[in-house]
Amino acid sequence: MPVPPKTPQHPKAPPDPRPGPKAARPDAPDPTASPATLARLHAACFTRPRPWSAAEFATLLAAPDTLLAAVPDGFGLARVTLDEAELLTLAVAPAARGKRLGTRLLADLLARAATRGATCLVLEVAADNLPARALYARAGFAQVGRRPGYYGGTDALLLRVAFPARRNFLARSAR
Ligand SMILES: CC(C)(COP(=O)(O)OP(=O)(O)OC[C@H]1O[C@@H](n2cnc3c(N)ncnc32)[C@H](O)[C@@H]1OP(=O)(O)O)[C@@H](O)C(=O)NCCC(=O)NCCS
Repeated sequence: MPVPPKTPQHPKAPPDPRPGPKAARPDAPDPTASPATLARLHAACFTRPRPWSAAEFATLLAAPDTLLAAVPDGFGLARVTLDEAELLTLAVAPAARGKRLGTRLLADLLARAATRGATCLVLEVAADNLPARALYARAGFAQVGRRPGYYGGTDALLLRVAFPARRNFLARSAR
């Protein structure tokens, strides 16, 4: 996933939405998040190489292995492949940050991924994205790899958390 510290960037194209061979059942549609809303939020949080379009979000949301957690000012998407979940993106509108929305969204995705049979969640984060790294550290993620220069001169860190995620993190998300 993204991000230089001041202007978050997303270096990846949207993932291939085709389901894996053992895709789980789709989640119920989430009325708080239309593809257009997600695209707008994504554009406010990520700019490089380009924000994901509403059409791309529609395709992702239609895929049976995609998990969505959404509130009016933020959302997260994950994908479950067999016993591993991958965080595709996590975004909170700039004006709504610091209110634990990111924590709630991540906790929601962790819970949903576990329900789908995942035993861990992996993600990529820019080494200089300190807010996101702090959030993931609190959730119990550990670094399992590094991709030098992946974000145009900034390294990507590969993080992983095995389930169950930290009990106190999940409790914090409810406050
Ligand atoms: C990363 C992001 C989702 C965090 O959302 P958020 O709602 O502000 O996060 P929370 O309020 O839940 O904060 C959770 C923890 O993250 C850390 N954190 C959040 N903002 C921080 C900041 N500006 N500086 C340092 N740590 C920060 C803190 O440890 C915080 O815990 P605390 O509330 O006990 O202090 C948000 O900053 C964002 O959308 N950034 C741009 C997109 C992005 O980088 N996404 C992640 C890509 S890997």
